[in-house]
Amino acid sequence: MTLRYIALLIAGLSVFTCKTWAVVDVSMEDWVDVSLKGQAEIPCIYTLKEPAKMIVWFTKLPGRDQSRRRIYYYDGQKTVIEEGSEYVGRIKVTHSHEPQNARGSAILIIDNVQLSDQREYICTVYNVSTDSGEGRTRLQIFNSPSLPVIEGMHTGISVTVEEPSKVAQCKVDDGYPRPNITWYKGRFPLQQSEEVKTMELVTTKPNGLFTVHSDLYIKVEKTDEDALFYCEVKYFVPGGVRMTETKKINITVHYPTTEVTLSVNPHDRLIKEGDTVKIRCVGNGKPPPIFSFTHNGDELSSDEEMLLLDNVSRSNSGTYVCQSFDLDTGTSFEDSINITVHYLDHIVVTPEETVLDQGDDLTLTCNALSSLPTQTAWYKHDMQLVERHVLELNNASYDTAGMYMCKVTVPSLPDLQELKSVQVSVRGKPKLTVEMAADPVNKADRSVNLTCHAEGYPSPTITWTLSDQWTGQPVPVPEVESQKTDTGVLSMISVRATSKLTVNCSAANEFGTVNVSHKIEASARVKTTTTQATSTKGTRLTTSPKQPHTGSGSGVIIAVMIICLLLIAILGSMLYFLYKKGKLPCGRSGKQDFTKEKASKDDIVMEMKSGKSEEAVLLQGVNGDRKSPTE
Ligand SMILES: *[C@@H]1O[C@H](CO)[C@@H](O)[C@H](O)[C@H]1NC(C)=O
Ligand SMILES: *[C@@H]1O[C@H](CO)[C@@H](O)[C@H](O)[C@H]1NC(C)=O
Ligand SMILES: *[C@@H]1O[C@H](CO)[C@@H](O)[C@H](O)[C@H]1NC(C)=O
Ligand SMILES: *[C@@H]1O[C@H](CO)[C@@H](O)[C@H](O)[C@H]1NC(C)=O
Ligand SMILES: *[C@@H]1O[C@H](CO)[C@@H](O)[C@H](O)[C@H]1NC(C)=O
Repeated sequence: MTLRYIALLIAGLSVFTCKTWAVVDVSMEDWVDVSLKGQAEIPCIYTLKEPAKMIVWFTKLPGRDQSRRRIYYYDGQKTVIEEGSEYVGRIKVTHSHEPQNARGSAILIIDNVQLSDQREYICTVYNVSTDSGEGRTRLQIFNSPSLPVIEGMHTGISVTVEEPSKVAQCKVDDGYPRPNITWYKGRFPLQQSEEVKTMELVTTKPNGLFTVHSDLYIKVEKTDEDALFYCEVKYFVPGGVRMTETKKINITVHYPTTEVTLSVNPHDRLIKEGDTVKIRCVGNGKPPPIFSFTHNGDELSSDEEMLLLDNVSRSNSGTYVCQSFDLDTGTSFEDSINITVHYLDHIVVTPEETVLDQGDDLTLTCNALSSLPTQTAWYKHDMQLVERHVLELNNASYDTAGMYMCKVTVPSLPDLQELKSVQVSVRGKPKLTVEMAADPVNKADRSVNLTCHAEGYPSPTITWTLSDQWTGQPVPVPEVESQKTDTGVLSMISVRATSKLTVNCSAANEFGTVNVSHKIEASARVKTTTTQATSTKGTRLTTSPKQPHTGSGSGVIIAVMIICLLLIAILGSMLYFLYKKGKLPCGRSGKQDFTKEKASKDDIVMEMKSGKSEEAVLLQGVNGDRKSPTE
C-alpha cells in the first residue's frame, strides 16, 4: 500500500500543473480494480499545509443520470454517512495529514463490493477558506467465470453438407466483465471464414454476471475426424488477463462410402469342407452403409457386414458379392471374391468282391474324388505296400489274406485324409497253428494256455476235445475263448495239467477238416518235447525225459562215446564180414522217425502228434521261449 501511495504522490505532483484551475490540489487514481465481494480502497490525496477543513465523497451513477449523490461528509469533527444509501455499513474513510510535506489523504474503503459499486467516486477537499479541489476514480469490478464447458454434437456431421454445420458448443458462466471465447482446432485458433463460423450469445443474469455461449459451425472435412477441438476463455482479473481451456473433444464426421472391400477369413490357407468361413465386407465410409451379399447371384441373409458360413461344403464354393448402399447419398458400390471349398470324398475300392481261390490274382483299385491332387498308398499291418492307387495281389495264398488299408491324402491340405479297409479272404481248407503257453512265474500253477489259430475261408469252426490219456475217457472241455482274426479264427482254452491229457483242436470248413492233438502231463522234470508229424498215419514219437546236464558229466559222456565208437567199429566189421560172406540181405526198415528235442527248465512235458493235415504246425511257447516254424 505505502508503495502505491508514494507512486500516487509522484503522479499527483506531475498532474498538479495541469490542474491549476483548482485551488486545492487533489490527486486520485483513474481506475481502481477490485474483485466482486472484495474490499476496495480509493485514495484521495490533497496538498494543504493544514488538514482539510471538509472532505465530501460523492458517487456518480452510471448511465444517463449524471447527477452526483453525496455518500460521505467530514468536517474535521463530524463524520456523516448518508442514510438510506446502499453504502451504509459498508464504507469508512481513513484520514491522515503530514504537515511537514503539506499533504493529506482520505482513503475511502468499501467492503463487500457489489457490481452496482462499479461507478465513479468523487472526492472534494475544502481548505480553511472553503476553497476546494476535487478528484475522481472509477471503480472497476471483476469476477472470474466458472470453468468453461464444451459439448460436441451427438450426431455425426456430414461432409456433404454445403453450409458449415454446428459441431460443438461452449459455455462459460458468471464472468464479469464479459469473458471472451476463442475456438481451437488442434493448436490453432479458428478464425471466422467461409468454412468457420461462431455464434455467440451473451446473457446477463439477474445478478449482473455474464454467461457466454458460443456455437462453432464448420464445414467439416474427412480429416476432421482426427482433429481435437476445444475452446479457450479469456477474462479480466484485477490488474490482468487470465485464461482457461476446456477439455479437447473429437467430432464424429460422416462421409460417403466410395469403395467396399471383401475379405475372407481364413485368408492364408485353403478352405476345406467343414471349416467355418467368415466373409467380411468393409466400406471406407462412415457410418457404414447397408451391405447385402449374394452367392452366385442368390441373395443371402446376413447380419451387418459379416457373413458367417459354418461347416462349409463344396456347394459354398463360388463368387460372393458384397454390395453397399449409402442411405445419405443413395450411392452403391460392390466387391466380389471367389471361394473354393476343397473336399475329399470317401474312398471307393474296386472290386468289392475280395474272396479269392488260392493261386488267384486280384487287382484292387482305390479312388477318392478330390478337388486337389491326391496321394494314394496301400498298407497291410501298418506297413506300406505300394504308393499308388492300384494294388496287385498275385498267386493268392493264405499269406495274401488279411486286412488291407488304402489311405488317400491331399498333400496341399494335410487335414484332408480318407482311409478304407478291405478284407481279402482266400478260400481253402483250414490251416492250423497251435501255440501253448505255461505260466513261467508260478510253476505250481500247472495251467497251460492252448491257442489254436485256424486260417482259411470260409471262416473255420474250431472244436476242442479233451480225453484222459490212460483211461481214454473224454474230459469236459474248459471255457473256450474265441475271436475272429484277419485271416480266420483264434480259439483258446486254459487246461490244468493235473493228469495226462490228450487235447485235440479241430478246425473245419466246407473245404475240409484239420486237427492237431497234444499230450499234456504234469511232470517235475525240466523237459519239453516238440514233435511234428508229416505222415497222415500219425506216427507217434516220444522222447524220454533226459538227465539234466551237470559239470562232472562231460567226462562220463566222453568215455561212453569212446566205448560206443569201439562197439560200432566192432559191429561194423562184423557186419562187413557177414556181408562179404553173403549172410546178410540188403534192405531197409519201413519206418523213418525223427525227433527234435530241446532241453529246458520246464515243469511240464508236452508231446504232440499231428493229425491228417500236412499244414499242421506246432508253435511252442514255453516260458516265453518261442520258436516259429520259420526259424
Ligand atoms: C474480448 O474481446 C473484446 C473484443 O474483441 C476485447 O475488446 C476484449 O479485450 C476481450 N477481452 C479479453 C478478456 O481478452
Ligand atoms: C456338417 O455338414 C455335414 C453335411 O453337410 C453334416 O453331415 C455334418 O454333421 C455337419 N457337421 C457339423 C459339425 O454340423
Ligand atoms: C504260386 O504259389 C505256389 C505256392 O506258393 C507255388 O508253388 C507256385 O509256383 C506259384 N505260382 C506262380 C505262378 O508263381
Ligand atoms: C492264459 O490265458 C489267460 C486268459 O487269457 C491269462 O490270464 C493267462 O495269463 C494265460 N497264461 C499263460 C501262461 O499265458
Ligand atoms: C480229434 O478230433 C476229431 C473230431 O473232433 C477227430 O476226427 C480226430 O480223430 C481227433 N484226433 C485225434 C488225434 O484224436
